[in-house]
Amino acid sequence: MVLQFPIQPPNNYSGASEPVKRPKEFACFSYDKDHQFRQDDSSMKWYYPPDVGANLSNGYDGFIKHDDRIDEHLDSLLRTMTDHEKQTGQPIDAHIVTWRGMLTKIMATPFDDEGFEMNATLYRDCIFIEEHHAFKEQKRQSESHQGRGRIPLSLMQYWGYKFETLSTLPQPWGETSREYIENRDQEVTNNKEQYCSVVRTGFGKSIVCLGGEVDAIWDKKPQTPGEPINWVELKTSAEIRGSNDQFKFDRKLMRYWIQSFLLGVPKIIVGFRNMDGILTQVEELKTISIPDEVQRRGMARWDGNVCIKFTSLFLEWLRTSLNDEGVWRIRRPHKASYIELFKVEEVGHGNLITDDFMNWRIKL
Ligand code: A3P
Ligand code: MG
Ligand code: MG
Repeated sequence: MVLQFPIQPPNNYSGASEPVKRPKEFACFSYDKDHQFRQDDSSMKWYYPPDVGANLSNGYDGFIKHDDRIDEHLDSLLRTMTDHEKQTGQPIDAHIVTWRGMLTKIMATPFDDEGFEMNATLYRDCIFIEEHHAFKEQKRQSESHQGRGRIPLSLMQYWGYKFETLSTLPQPWGETSREYIENRDQEVTNNKEQYCSVVRTGFGKSIVCLGGEVDAIWDKKPQTPGEPINWVELKTSAEIRGSNDQFKFDRKLMRYWIQSFLLGVPKIIVGFRNMDGILTQVEELKTISIPDEVQRRGMARWDGNVCIKFTSLFLEWLRTSLNDEGVWRIRRPHKASYIELFKVEEVGHGNLITDDFMNWRIKL
């Protein structure tokens, strides 16, 4: 049986907005330079403005690139949840557990044609959602030979990571030598290293536990847990030279905004670059102001409140519909006006729930 959730015209999701909780970080983890898991904040980076004029292609040959063909499922998130539950003795009370990227796709749905596939399973009153990795791989391969005109896609991706290297320090500014700051261009860019924040947040009646990468911190984490953190999201984008560029950028801002909203990241630093990969301008955006600014310019039509309301209603529907054991598929075909839900495995939890997590939960 296939169940469908309609993606109605956005105006069906306007009107009174849904209550949202502010995301609060309750745990974190890192991947080190070899992508080894660490239950700490060792890979957190500090923002320090990059130099305009830098060449984002520098060091491309030495790029240490994480192989994302390997399906990592929810393993690190579950490991972090287990660690937290061991410390507090309390199970995490979420209705939904997933990576930030999955909710980004769902939130963008009312204004985006993109297709997606996810796997989901119900375990102890909580729905765990992961990306359907084979689908993503297929999509990536069909896109891999594309590029923007004469620029290969892999180089453009490198520019994004290089911008991170040029804009961050591994220690606070006060503890960093002048040489390090001046020679950041010589640092090897390595995207195996990551800091991930794990937050508790909410959409309407659904409590959601999300894990996602954050690029940098502005100053330092507050003393009191749960207080807002001055995270910084780093992005690169093509220079805006006319109204068509502005339109494209305003559409992109929807994803920037959703991504940052989900983890409570208050500031986005955009590095604008020309077609040769030279950094030409750096701009600071306040996440909270983005929806109004885009609406004021009136070019790209998306509405943050609609994204929130759609997500609240979808999650509520998912929680009533996904009510049985096994592994389920959540699928939105390209351009489809619905999200569908059906079972792909009758029993078990596929690879979503690790043995370690299950063994721990049995004890709890
Ligand atoms: P830009 O965002 O500057 O383009 P994030 O912005 O999420 O921190 O990701 C950092 C970089 O990873 C991106 O830089 C981009 O180069 C690459 N990246 C992120 N998501 C991607 C995706 N879905 N496909 C390809 N590259 C991606
Ligand atoms: Mg990032
Ligand atoms: Mg980024």
